[in-house]
Amino acid sequence: SGMDPMPGMSGHAGHDMGATSQGTTLLPEGAALRELPLLANEARRPGLFKARLTAEPAVARFAEGQDTPILAYNGQSPGPLIEAFEGDRVEITFANRIGEEASTIHWHGMPVPADQDGNPMDPVAAGTDRIYAFVLPEGSAGSYWYHPHPHGKTAEQVYRGLAGAFVVKSKVDPVPAEYGDTVLVLTDLRLAADGSMPGNTMSDLMNGRVGDHVLVNGQKNPQLSVAEGARRRLRLYNATNARFLKLAFDGAPMTIIGADGGLIEAPVAAEDILIGPGERIELVVAFDRPGPATLKTLPYDRGWMGPGRPADAGLTLLTVNVSQTPAEVLPPLPERLRPIAPLPAPARSRRLVFTETMAMNASGMEMGFLINGRAFDMARVDIVTKAGETELWEIVNQADMDHPFHVHGTQFQVIAHERDGTVSKPRYLAWKDTVNVARGETVRLLLRQERPGPRMYHCHILEHEQLGMMGVLDVQA
Ligand code: C2O
Ligand code: CU
Ligand code: CU
Repeated sequence: SGMDPMPGMSGHAGHDMGATSQGTTLLPEGAALRELPLLANEARRPGLFKARLTAEPAVARFAEGQDTPILAYNGQSPGPLIEAFEGDRVEITFANRIGEEASTIHWHGMPVPADQDGNPMDPVAAGTDRIYAFVLPEGSAGSYWYHPHPHGKTAEQVYRGLAGAFVVKSKVDPVPAEYGDTVLVLTDLRLAADGSMPGNTMSDLMNGRVGDHVLVNGQKNPQLSVAEGARRRLRLYNATNARFLKLAFDGAPMTIIGADGGLIEAPVAAEDILIGPGERIELVVAFDRPGPATLKTLPYDRGWMGPGRPADAGLTLLTVNVSQTPAEVLPPLPERLRPIAPLPAPARSRRLVFTETMAMNASGMEMGFLINGRAFDMARVDIVTKAGETELWEIVNQADMDHPFHVHGTQFQVIAHERDGTVSKPRYLAWKDTVNVARGETVRLLLRQERPGPRMYHCHILEHEQLGMMGVLDVQA
């Protein structure tokens, strides 16, 4: 089973595999880090966040003298930063002006009603508008994001530029305000010699599209200046389609303070961090040594099929210049950030097995990216669950590469990783909506959905999602 050819997925596996345009265009480096523009709140009364997001074609200038056609929200890529507070009602009018295609806005990780979550079943047709409306519950503060989720087109609309950050803030925040709060959206970009973005190759479909340049808020290796002794709160977003980012600050110690769904219980020192596609990590970084402190990529073997494996180590993503003028004395990070109640014992357990199938035949390569032997079918319900009941999900990766697992509508708690019979517990309890499941690994997590309706779960390598590694979870009241 599972060897059905994906529609439109037969291709020649020969010469075009891994044929990327690596190294054809050099991007300028060293500009001052650009803070993401805030999406302005048009509402007058407190407790309401009201705005408009228009997705439309735009032109970016990444390299000197070259115009790159992209897609943007309100002319920006990454899209404008949305900031709202717990308890707020959000009303966002989405205008789809990207051209001939349907789109949606999916509120990745956010506890919004199923019919407001931009599912592929709720497309916003080309040239039309719709309003997304929801209330941000108390306790939902966290680092979320938004991106399109139309059937079969998500991967392309995202790599062409449609993605933005949505930060839900709490009125009581234990992290000292003196640390600032900077959102860093990491994307990656591939440019052809003429400055355009090439379409996906066979290798991109198999491995996920990995670009040639990693960008921070749309810039290559931007610079940030801080005083000696400064502490900075950074929210790192992996908004790439398929790149695994193992990162460390060379010259500045990192402390993890939060995950996808907000603060963890207590700060945890980290030598390095791994952020898979779709994941977020909140850090406090201490800049105690004058001179440059650089955020760099480290080697990470995520599994790769065929030629064209991109460099994943030694890239400088961000340079922080630490001046010799000492900062004023800053309050310390508190020892406790917030309590996280462990989810209760599960009412049932489920097993989701991720596999890839590859076969050569007369028409070329046939690929399948499957969950429990099946490719995505929008008209099929794969799992039925009850709102309010905790379940144990076992995500089993029997494939040759890592697959980051994501589920809509809620935050879950990872309780164990198992590999070759060895079980390890995560270093800290966290609310997550995306977790990497390394090849050969099983990840166990506790999951509870509170709101009824259909929810998607899928691999967040967006090309895999598009090729079938997705299912429908029906949450019943
Ligand atoms: Cu970030 Cu179903 O997506
Ligand atoms: Cu999502
Ligand atoms: Cu995958």
